[in-house]
Amino acid sequence: MKEYAALHPHFLHGADYNPDQWLAYPEVLEQDPEMMAQAHCNCMSVGIFSWAMLEPVEGEYHFEQLDRFIENLAKKGVKTILATPSAARPRWMAEKYEQVRRVNKSGIREQYNTRHNHCYTSPIYRQKTVAIDKALAERYGHNPNVILWHISNEFGGECHCELCQDAFRQFLKKKYNNDLDKLNHAWWSSFWSHTVTDWAQIHSPMEHGEPDIIMTGLYLDWRNFVTYQTTDFMRMEIDAVKSVNPHIPVTTNLMWIPQNVDYDALAKYVDVVSWDSYPSWHEQDQIRCAVETAFCHNYFRSLKHKPFLLMESTPSNTNWQAVSKLKRPGMHRLASLQAVAHGSDSVQYFQWRKGRGGSEKFHGAVIDHNGKAAGRVFEDVKQVGISLEKLDAICGTKTNARVAVIFDHKNCWALSNTSGFINADKKYMQTCLQHYKSFWKRGVDVDVISTGADLTGYDLVVMPMLYSMPLEQIDRIERYVAQGGTAVATYATGYVNDTDLCYLGGFPGNQLKDVFGLIADEIDSLYETDKNAVLWDNNTYDVVDYCELITPTTAEVLGAYKEDFYAGLPALLKNSYKKGTAYYIGCRDTGALSDKLYAQILEKLQIQTYDLPEGVTVTSRAPYLFVQNYNDYDITASVPGCYRNMETGEQYSGSISLNGLDIAVLYPND
Ligand code: GAL
Repeated sequence: MKEYAALHPHFLHGADYNPDQWLAYPEVLEQDPEMMAQAHCNCMSVGIFSWAMLEPVEGEYHFEQLDRFIENLAKKGVKTILATPSAARPRWMAEKYEQVRRVNKSGIREQYNTRHNHCYTSPIYRQKTVAIDKALAERYGHNPNVILWHISNEFGGECHCELCQDAFRQFLKKKYNNDLDKLNHAWWSSFWSHTVTDWAQIHSPMEHGEPDIIMTGLYLDWRNFVTYQTTDFMRMEIDAVKSVNPHIPVTTNLMWIPQNVDYDALAKYVDVVSWDSYPSWHEQDQIRCAVETAFCHNYFRSLKHKPFLLMESTPSNTNWQAVSKLKRPGMHRLASLQAVAHGSDSVQYFQWRKGRGGSEKFHGAVIDHNGKAAGRVFEDVKQVGISLEKLDAICGTKTNARVAVIFDHKNCWALSNTSGFINADKKYMQTCLQHYKSFWKRGVDVDVISTGADLTGYDLVVMPMLYSMPLEQIDRIERYVAQGGTAVATYATGYVNDTDLCYLGGFPGNQLKDVFGLIADEIDSLYETDKNAVLWDNNTYDVVDYCELITPTTAEVLGAYKEDFYAGLPALLKNSYKKGTAYYIGCRDTGALSDKLYAQILEKLQIQTYDLPEGVTVTSRAPYLFVQNYNDYDITASVPGCYRNMETGEQYSGSISLNGLDIAVLYPND
């Protein structure tokens, strides 16, 4: 299998294209490809929701229209990302075969509606999907204008039908080696007499059944099953299209994190990761939005440690967020090149053209209802296309980050559903973002990796609130620090294993106590009105939400609590463990304490940092530097070295001025 970049060594620029909605408007279909070329678009995602056109009657395939769409695009130099249509099934199928419709958490089988809501277990749905996928592959699998398979759309959700319940039981039998004692132990089911004595007694967590938060072992295994079943369905589709020609790469478009499916599992089987990014730009905290989007880009890049594709983004507004805000001048270019800076090899949109009807007719698009290849949004899109054409040299290049932050879906599920701490919101994602921001604002590249990832090669690994850790992960962290790595952990780290059973003998579990040189005896949760602080190096840092009461064994105490009955006890610790160093932040700070700690660690590890104004960052995709200003106002940033602006040719030495919401792509001028 060739890398897709080898098949098409240019940045992709284009959109979801739905010509099947415009069959009654031949003039529109005729104009579209020409307008795409004018917008400097070179690629369209086609056929995502076209099943009703492709198979209007069971077993009768009609590909003539699709043939025409692909050919007309090709005539204007526009390639096709061809979708399998399984994300929305035709009405006839849902009416004829009840089992393809999902049973929801209340136990009710849904009527035909919307999309993304079929049963991944249903043998009939699987059979129909494979049949149409194979037919598509046979027809287009050797078409040089088809450069990538887009498998389904935004896999997710869950079904609670009897077929899924049976499949769940089979999954558990395999996982627990047919041994109910093992399952009962993993789920601690003697609690409230929940012991399972027959596999048939097991049901998915449902509204009128077991809630998610009572037997977290059951809940977590259900999430694992849903991930497994979703991945299995996706693999079936991949096999179907690859059975004809294994050389066309595959992707599936993922979504904003966190999700209820573990994307790690899905990513293993696609050739290139892609995702759909819809930040709420221009909301009050624009910088938070920039940080969160950067974090997500890095997560998707790190899934395969190679470039990803931005498969969807809006050229202007969305229509489903609370407020359908237009992108302000500059924002489109800034957000699009932000993705490129973080490792994307594409800027794709939803959608090429606004539909006349349906719920997405007011969603941003390259072509509005006026039908013109002109106007503010069109020009913004065109300019991004022109910029991408100049960036070909970095298409396909990888980023080598020295720092990793661990964000893990399984940990997220466990933490969110375990009863305790602050139940209203454990703020896991927020905590990860707070720690990540210290690197973002200094222009330090970070991989966002999951618990199972290999840690070799990183100088620093940060694990915010890594509450749930399988034994293998504990071993991996131990080895990483023992061999010379630097790790930073926080309160609530290593409390439980992968089925939410607490580690015995003190937290953090097993060897982590030695790695960090401490025992976290208790954790105090704070009301919003509670106040505490940490005294470190003669400075005071505010503390919110959580304070652990820690007994050091070998760790050196750097900072201590100022208030409450634990005033004077350690809050910030550092431990030398074999060849490495492990830091432990025992409380949730408001950002200042961890930020200072990271500044010191980065200096010690000699990782290059930039001293930038608030809301400004520098991202490197060698040899280019992307300097980004997320403020609405102009700034001057110091960027040591001599550079030339890739687009304007302007030269800089030591500093650069940027307008509000602007981005400059610089290359070294030596
Ligand atoms: C995505 C979806 C697209 C479109 C878009 C609107 O999540 O894949 O089909 O609905 O949202 O923002």
